[in-house]
Amino acid sequence: MAGAIRTLCREKNAIILAHYYQTGDIQDIADFVGDSLALAQWASRTEADMIVLCGVHFMGETAKILCPDKKVLIPDSEAGCSLADSCPADEFAAFVSRHPGHTVISYVNTTAAVKAVTDIVVTSTNARQIVESFPEDTPIIFGPDRNLGNYINSITGRNMLLWDGACHVHEKFSLEKILELKNAYPEAEVITHPECKQPIIRISDFVGSTAALLKHTIHSDRKQFIVATESGVIHEMKKQSPAKEFIPAPPNDSTCACNECSFMRLNTLQKLYDCLKSESPEIQVDKEIQKKAIIPIQKMLEISAQLGL
Ligand code: 13P
Ligand code: SF4
Repeated sequence: MAGAIRTLCREKNAIILAHYYQTGDIQDIADFVGDSLALAQWASRTEADMIVLCGVHFMGETAKILCPDKKVLIPDSEAGCSLADSCPADEFAAFVSRHPGHTVISYVNTTAAVKAVTDIVVTSTNARQIVESFPEDTPIIFGPDRNLGNYINSITGRNMLLWDGACHVHEKFSLEKILELKNAYPEAEVITHPECKQPIIRISDFVGSTAALLKHTIHSDRKQFIVATESGVIHEMKKQSPAKEFIPAPPNDSTCACNECSFMRLNTLQKLYDCLKSESPEIQVDKEIQKKAIIPIQKMLEISAQLGL
């Protein structure tokens, strides 16, 4: 399967971009594995004719917005995102118009239509720096993730107006079970994605995007980590630091020890092969929306480049 996928990529001049939350077999076959910012950066500079985005729909849309003339494929078109779904574009646009004079900052986990009414897009890697690039008294609307928004407010001292959305995976981590793990592994660091709720962030040793968490595990001199984000990222953590131990933080609603994003896990190696072979499902973005949505994404890429992110 892996050989057949690579052959199709060569024949079609296609590139496979995968998020850290994909299964290990997909990460291993991808041309590039990264967080949402890195996937957008790769999409913006690839010379391939076709991009297969192994991630969720908004990531494919972001690639398509940046490369409207390329074919952008996703292995399973049902791979959505509960956070993006928690922010319908018409309701968000109405919220924005009820608060005139606000700068609109949207997390990349949004539909193209939400990005089209946004001033600047952020990811969890650059949210803090981009918010801080605006003067302190700038009135800001931040959407859609209330947890990321609260976290950024707390570390920057801002008072951004927040959209009340959340990710069903990151909201599900159990504080109680993480505290039990901390007792069981007293030397372990708790490392957490900022989409988690505040009580979990408060007891964490390090908070960051998937790429930041990965980097932290490489450079930290600790040997054990309790990982409070989607457990797919542990695949690359183990590859980078084979001598270290990674304990997935458990969710509160099941007997399963780790927490997976059911949308991300819809993509499989077989579906990746099928989509390359048939060149579908293809991501489509309305042309008028694309023209508006590319502006805040490009602003984000420019600022990120200036910041060396
Ligand atoms: P990253 O910005 O860390 O890639 O996070 C994306 C995401 O969907 C988190 O749930
Ligand atoms: Fe969306 Fe949450 Fe899945 Fe990330 S983990 S893609 S925010 S549902």
